[in-house]
Amino acid sequence: MIRFEYKNLISNPYLKSAIDPKLIQSHLPQVQAAREEIAKDRKADILGFYDLPEQDISHITDYAESLDPKFDTILVLGIGGSALGNKAVYNALKTEACLTKRVLTFDNVDPVFLHEILQDINMDTTLFNVITKSGTTAETMAGYMIITDILQKKYPKDYHKRLVITTDKEKGFLRQVVKDRGYSSFSVPDNVGGRFSVLTDVGLLSSAFAGIDIAAMLEGAGEMVKLSENEDIMQNPPLLNGLLHYLYLKEGKNISVMMPYSNSLYDFADWYRQLWAESLGKRFDKDGREVFTGQTPVKALGTTDQHSQIQLYAEGPNDKVITFLTVENFNHDYVIPNLHPEREEVSYLGGKCLSALLNAERLATEIALCKAGRPNANLVFPKLDAKNLGAAIMMYQIQTVFTGKLLGINSLDQPGVEAGKIATYALMGKKGFSQERKEIADYLQQ
Ligand code: PA5
Repeated sequence: MIRFEYKNLISNPYLKSAIDPKLIQSHLPQVQAAREEIAKDRKADILGFYDLPEQDISHITDYAESLDPKFDTILVLGIGGSALGNKAVYNALKTEACLTKRVLTFDNVDPVFLHEILQDINMDTTLFNVITKSGTTAETMAGYMIITDILQKKYPKDYHKRLVITTDKEKGFLRQVVKDRGYSSFSVPDNVGGRFSVLTDVGLLSSAFAGIDIAAMLEGAGEMVKLSENEDIMQNPPLLNGLLHYLYLKEGKNISVMMPYSNSLYDFADWYRQLWAESLGKRFDKDGREVFTGQTPVKALGTTDQHSQIQLYAEGPNDKVITFLTVENFNHDYVIPNLHPEREEVSYLGGKCLSALLNAERLATEIALCKAGRPNANLVFPKLDAKNLGAAIMMYQIQTVFTGKLLGINSLDQPGVEAGKIATYALMGKKGFSQERKEIADYLQQ
């Protein structure tokens, strides 16, 4: 199981300026109130992600097993919560779990990016998975239409067997397309929002296709749900981390850095970026008061960014809470050969594992940041596997909703994203947006 090491978020002999443990104690009534609100939301069936560990996944595993073995790649066409989780899970596990099938993601409308993907894949052996909860997102619709057109022309008889759609189970344009054209389809539960949906069909289908043990992923997530029920906040990683981030935010630490010491987990930090930013970045609290709250998530990569960002984190504004992600045991490792035993410049490295150097550098960075008075935490993966990854996903989902409750905001909506979507529809000539088109014309004339 993953371990959350928080000693450098709480004041200790090495980091006196950190949060005083007494502050945690004095916030226990708020913690209790937030827990009660979450319990109420769960009863009202609006936090469905908590229950995903219990779901039946046979429809996914059966489908993955039934697929023609010629398919060696699945290309996800989606964006935001309909893509970031797929990327995070696959890239976390592809090497350590020795996956032989690929998950690629087209989550932009950059034509060069699409060209690169189309150059990279073999159309004959690629399955396409269009994912969109709303069924209307412009980026995903554009990708869907381009790919379907290519498939229809190349495979007029069986193009529909090469594309699978994940969308709302009843509503939306794409659900109609599924009915009309006979595509296989999966659904996004009503009670799970986009950025909380990686453990639904949204993320599980591509993972199962790639050969990831999705049952183990859900088992890890289920263990984290249990941990989150612990009454003792010090034994409750998602709630403790949420409370500490909330307290730091109130002290002016407006930035949350996630810094994996693992290239495999870099996209996990990207997934976290969306979850934390879109859920907590809000103008209004739940009573309609203007609060302009949120904490800017930033991703960094150890050791690479030690030579790019750490100078700023150690000596720049003290406005960050830093979380390292550490992998203790790697399935793939290298011993550094002692090529120059007579030269002290490099002989100290000889005979050591690359992973030992990586994790020594992480600890060294932790110590340096403590000395500089910079709060930091460490989320430890004993190894990078499906179960630990599922636990980490659930930890951050619970932490996000809990922190939203402490902030008094709605962590499940994204009104700031909708404004951009509407302007795009207007600019691209969608019917029903003439007023917005007029406003844009005025704006352009200024
Ligand atoms: O978290 C969210 O709700 C968003 O990031 C969505 O996932 C994103 O906008 C894509 O939406 P959809 O799945 O409807 O295409």
